[in-house]
Amino acid sequence: MLDLTPDRASLDPIEIASRDEISALQLERMKWSLAHAYANVSHTKAAFDAKGVHPDDLRSLSDLAKFPFTTKLDLRDNYPFGMFAVPRDKVTRLHASSGTTGKPTVVGYTAGDIDVWGDLVARSIRASGGRPGDIVHVSYGYGLFTGGLGAHYGAEKLGCTVVPVSGGMTERQVSLITDFKPRVIMVTPSYMLSILDEFRAKGIDPRESSLAVGIFGAEPWTNAMRAEIEQAFDMHAVDIYGLSEIMGPGVANECVETKDGLHIWEDHFYPEIIDPVTEEVLPDGEIGELVFTTLTKEALPMVRYRTRDLTRLLPGTARSMRRMEKITGRSDDMIILRGVNVFPTQIEEQILKCSGLAPHFQIELTRSGRLDDMTVHVECHISAASDEARAASSRELAHHIKSTVGVSTRINVQEPGKVARSEGKAKRVVDNRPKA
Ligand code: DLL
Repeated sequence: MLDLTPDRASLDPIEIASRDEISALQLERMKWSLAHAYANVSHTKAAFDAKGVHPDDLRSLSDLAKFPFTTKLDLRDNYPFGMFAVPRDKVTRLHASSGTTGKPTVVGYTAGDIDVWGDLVARSIRASGGRPGDIVHVSYGYGLFTGGLGAHYGAEKLGCTVVPVSGGMTERQVSLITDFKPRVIMVTPSYMLSILDEFRAKGIDPRESSLAVGIFGAEPWTNAMRAEIEQAFDMHAVDIYGLSEIMGPGVANECVETKDGLHIWEDHFYPEIIDPVTEEVLPDGEIGELVFTTLTKEALPMVRYRTRDLTRLLPGTARSMRRMEKITGRSDDMIILRGVNVFPTQIEEQILKCSGLAPHFQIELTRSGRLDDMTVHVECHISAASDEARAASSRELAHHIKSTVGVSTRINVQEPGKVARSEGKAKRVVDNRPKA
């Protein structure tokens, strides 16, 4: 694959500034952000007062640990606009994340916030190997989801030609890629696999496509999946992270030259890792729950927002800003099967070790008597679809899962195309256990 290391002169100077410069900027911005939230969001004022803290108590970055957390519940309780720190007529854009239960979480942006978001997605695309002038095919969903429009404005800001396809209509995705010849694609990794299947179904060699860079995120995916996609398309596959409550895509991004975790754009977001149970801040290098404080957001400043995402912080490499390791999963996606913690990403890794299996899978939980059972529904490759080959793949996968993850699972190897596909974020776990 081509070396796409960006020219250092094209980077924002802060990306390669000294740690001291970054920390000084963070402290100055954090003071502003806490004061802004305290003065303008009644929920934040009440939460600070209840904990006996005031924005003036922040003298160093580590003082942040004294301040209260914010959770998704706080956003729900203040639905729709109660957490906004600016008058409603200063809000240029709304997005919302659907959530599985109840009301959606609504987020808002001022014109200034939209501008920063565009800059950070532009920075993310550049870190991924994108350049001004590239054609960028966006298959993230457009609408209330932040993926489509977030990617779109960033690509425009970098000076690219954007193809705003959104998700779905996979055949059309393939014809547009073939006809317009984009160099960059932005899409969830699971939907990229559906696009891959469609290339093959049409008899088009994906390695001959114009795609040189894929910027994949919005759901957990593994390095094994990266290798699979890079090999299939002869392209670079790079990870982009974000969440609506903090901004949307572009909170952190991998660098194409290292692919060693995602650099957090620390000039705008301050990360902490906490123990999800004791809520203590953990030192860099330890795995726990990622928490973000926004440093520049005007419409929706967030103080210590608990993401539920599990990862650890690592020092900078290609950039001075710290990295977060690829996300293992969310604390609420974790399956506890007979006392063993299981993440869908662990199952993905094992599936990709089996040459007869395709990486389309779904995990079903059922209950027999008092015990929970897990079934992995997975597809075989067309070349390994005979009864014997499927039985062998099933045994192989059950063995890998037992020996690495430590749980016994049922494996249901299905024919190609039989496992439910998503056109955006994949739904990896289907819980069919009786409701308590
Ligand atoms: O998924 C924003 C986004 C769009 C990110 C496009 C990247 C690309 P939400 O719908 O609010 O926002 O979902 C946020 O998705 O807390 C993670 O659990 C998960 N997530 C996002 N990016 C990644 C990633 C968008 N790269 C939630 N790896 C987050 C793993 C991710 N999980």
